[in-house]
Amino acid sequence: METPPLILVSNRGPVVFVDDGAGGTTMVRSGGGLVTALSGLVNVTPAVWISAAIESGDARVQHESGGEVRIPGLGVDTRGRFVEMDPDVYEQYYNVVANPMLWFIQHYLWDLSNVPDIRVEEFAAWEDGYLAANRLFADAVVGALADHPGAVVMLHDYHLYTAPGIVRERVPNAFLHFFVHIPWPQPDYWRVLPTVIRDKVIEGLLANDIVAFHTERYARNFLLSCEDLLGLEVDYAKMSVAYRGRWVRVRHYPISIDADRFIDLAASKAVATEEAQFLRRRRRSLVVRVDRTDLSKNILRGFTAFDLFLDRHPEFHEEITFFAMLQPSRQDVPEYVEYVNRITDIVSSINTKHGNTDWMPIDLRFESNLPLAVTAYKHFDVMMVNSIFDGMNLVAKEAPLVNERDGVLILSENVGAYEEIGAFAIGVNPFDIEAQAEALHTALTMPRTERRGRAEAIRQVVMENDIAKWLTTQLTDIEEARGESVLPPGADAP
Ligand code: G6P
Repeated sequence: METPPLILVSNRGPVVFVDDGAGGTTMVRSGGGLVTALSGLVNVTPAVWISAAIESGDARVQHESGGEVRIPGLGVDTRGRFVEMDPDVYEQYYNVVANPMLWFIQHYLWDLSNVPDIRVEEFAAWEDGYLAANRLFADAVVGALADHPGAVVMLHDYHLYTAPGIVRERVPNAFLHFFVHIPWPQPDYWRVLPTVIRDKVIEGLLANDIVAFHTERYARNFLLSCEDLLGLEVDYAKMSVAYRGRWVRVRHYPISIDADRFIDLAASKAVATEEAQFLRRRRRSLVVRVDRTDLSKNILRGFTAFDLFLDRHPEFHEEITFFAMLQPSRQDVPEYVEYVNRITDIVSSINTKHGNTDWMPIDLRFESNLPLAVTAYKHFDVMMVNSIFDGMNLVAKEAPLVNERDGVLILSENVGAYEEIGAFAIGVNPFDIEAQAEALHTALTMPRTERRGRAEAIRQVVMENDIAKWLTTQLTDIEEARGESVLPPGADAP
């Protein structure tokens, strides 16, 4: 019997189809770690990728194809299925519940003395937005399972917590695997959400056969939440939780990057083109950060620490640039719009305070330009990753891998990557501005041999734990749990 394709499910899919204004559509690849990581999987097995219809062309392409949309140039045989929903449902699901409500809970971002207020509007967004959208995703999964019986379903991220429960009810024997790409906070923080909401989140996850996280800490927090909030029986030695007569496996697999491909990218023409101009403007020292403009990234405190560093170390004036490439993100959510404004304000006040007509201490770019980001990765002396909390943070792996100056990584102890590479970075508490200012100075004055040793160690970890390992360990665990192969016969592991 032919091996069925994998069914991947995520809010943001690998491509969107944008109306080209002339009656056709243009296919545009999506960015982001999740999509990039799963591309390794679709390179070795046929897949059906279910995602939300985000751009206007998505639904049209789907109707024209009569069902699954072939996605050329992606994997061995990847087909998309777009979940269409009323714009109002999408708005409530994505802009009210998923971001910010769940995202803020899972990154400990709420300022609890002020927000969130959970009123009738939020309950309505939960019922008519999040639950409704998840029902539509579940319908799409059930439809795909009907067309491809026996397929393994892999769902991704916090947008889709309640979909697995519906699929389980309708297809009791389905094999469901769920990956949470963001932190899982400790049980008490979930108490911000009313019981009816938080119980549904956890129960939805427990409908899966395997629930996966990036780090052991998040996996343990999840088990603690099951025990504490739902009173379930948990086996910490086996990392499993009993739910409705089944043992649900809770695992951790640190996501990574395609190291070889990234090294090739760093040597590409596109990067060389950016590099020439970038290096002409270079001062002696370069601090870099590359992030989405997400509140969890702690961009403001990073700049405040740089301000303090400049106060204390006038010897670096005119000799240093802080290059910050920030990609505007989720601009339909008011908190994110305000954040961009605050970033602009703080940068202009620091540049005014310390800079002069010849020297702008912070070079701020609101753009997403991969070749330019990789150029900055190659040439930083200090890379700043100071997130408040962060599921993994792939920048912390990408940048040191291709850096050519034995640059130093400043790494928040609250990012997932800290479990693997924290020992070789300068670890910082993301709220401790003193420590971050000090870390900048330590990094910039560190002897070359020490820098080289640390940089080399990070590179080695990233080369060893690359994306192929992330994928194969998951596939092995899935095969063990269901007693059957996932990949088609003869397919090499990713
Ligand atoms: C994080 C999430 C992903 C999300 C990405 C970009 O990495 O874990 O699920 O796709 O951010 O955010 P966006 O809201 O633009 O999809």
